[in-house]
Amino acid sequence: MGAVSARLPVFPWDRLEPYKATAAAHADGIVDLSVGTPVDPVPALIQDALAGASDSPGYPTVWGTPALRDALTGWAERRLGATGLAHENVLPVVGSKELVAWVPTQLGIGAGDKVAYPRLAYPTYEVGARLAGAEPVVYDTPWELDPAGLKLLWLNSPSNPTGRVLSPEDLRRTVSWAREHGILVFSDECYLELGWEADPVSVLHPEVNGGSYDGIVAVHSLSKRSNLAGYRAAFVAGDAAVLGELLQIRKHGGMMIPAPVQAATIAALGDDAHVAEQRERYARRRAALRTAFEAAGFRIEHSEASLYLWATRDEPCWDTVGDLSKRGILVAPGDFYGPAGERFVRVAFTATDERVDAAVRRLAE
Ligand SMILES: Cc1ncc(COP(=O)(O)O)c(C=O)c1O
Repeated sequence: MGAVSARLPVFPWDRLEPYKATAAAHADGIVDLSVGTPVDPVPALIQDALAGASDSPGYPTVWGTPALRDALTGWAERRLGATGLAHENVLPVVGSKELVAWVPTQLGIGAGDKVAYPRLAYPTYEVGARLAGAEPVVYDTPWELDPAGLKLLWLNSPSNPTGRVLSPEDLRRTVSWAREHGILVFSDECYLELGWEADPVSVLHPEVNGGSYDGIVAVHSLSKRSNLAGYRAAFVAGDAAVLGELLQIRKHGGMMIPAPVQAATIAALGDDAHVAEQRERYARRRAALRTAFEAAGFRIEHSEASLYLWATRDEPCWDTVGDLSKRGILVAPGDFYGPAGERFVRVAFTATDERVDAAVRRLAE
């Protein structure tokens, strides 16, 4: 027992607990900008769809209802510019984190294989490689990787934690390099609707993939765009052969989205107004925090998209975390996302307007 958990890194958020306690002791309470968890309401039309499907006594299917698959293909065509998607090109998942963590295992990647992801990255790419017993490899430039033994290449644009967006040319070059070497590309695009100074492009766009989904899968989530992190609603779209294999495995594994959440997903993907409204909220909070952090001596790098500011005061990240926690502000240390982040902190703008205003005031003191 314990052999699998022993492969995994220490759960990083536990290390932040003492700083959280310090921040929480502030007279006016904590401003928690550490975790990117939505705080605004679930839009009423989504709640209504969930409630309307609450009489769901039977088992849902792993592939989802035909109406859900229509919603997934329709949204990907309309919003991402994908063309000719069939139901075989989409698969719902129970939030994208479980997919990221388990897809190497589900695809039979294991000992002797490699899984690559950006040098600064969401930690679950590494977790997925380790759960499968594969070797995790980081990259700065994907097409400079050694392709030997490399089975799965993760892209993440817009990036967590840096907010960096890959250009269509970079995406095109990566896809064609990976195809040349028979490497499967998974592109995590969960922040795609949150571009501020850039317009993120999907690998599903024909300008990137040449009109074919061979060897590419895009990962999308409703957690951020629709405030649905609590519902666990996400999906993958792309190579039908890969998704067909995943469907078989996931059917045997019972990895289904609850029927009411399937109904809520259909409603959410059919409506753009709530996405625009949520974007407005984040845009205001982002502008306020950016100005305040810069005035307080921070330099912001990248951050052209996503829900984060990637900020530095050119000092060790834990010094910054400690100093801000004394002002009642909690941020994530950059080394959670890899050693290359050791002089940065990640500032999430997923806090209420009232809490963001409190942070702005405290930074000016
Ligand atoms: C890059 C990235 N991928 C995936 C996820 C997982 O999102 P969810 O499981 O809510 O779909 C997150 C969550 O923060 C993320 O930052």
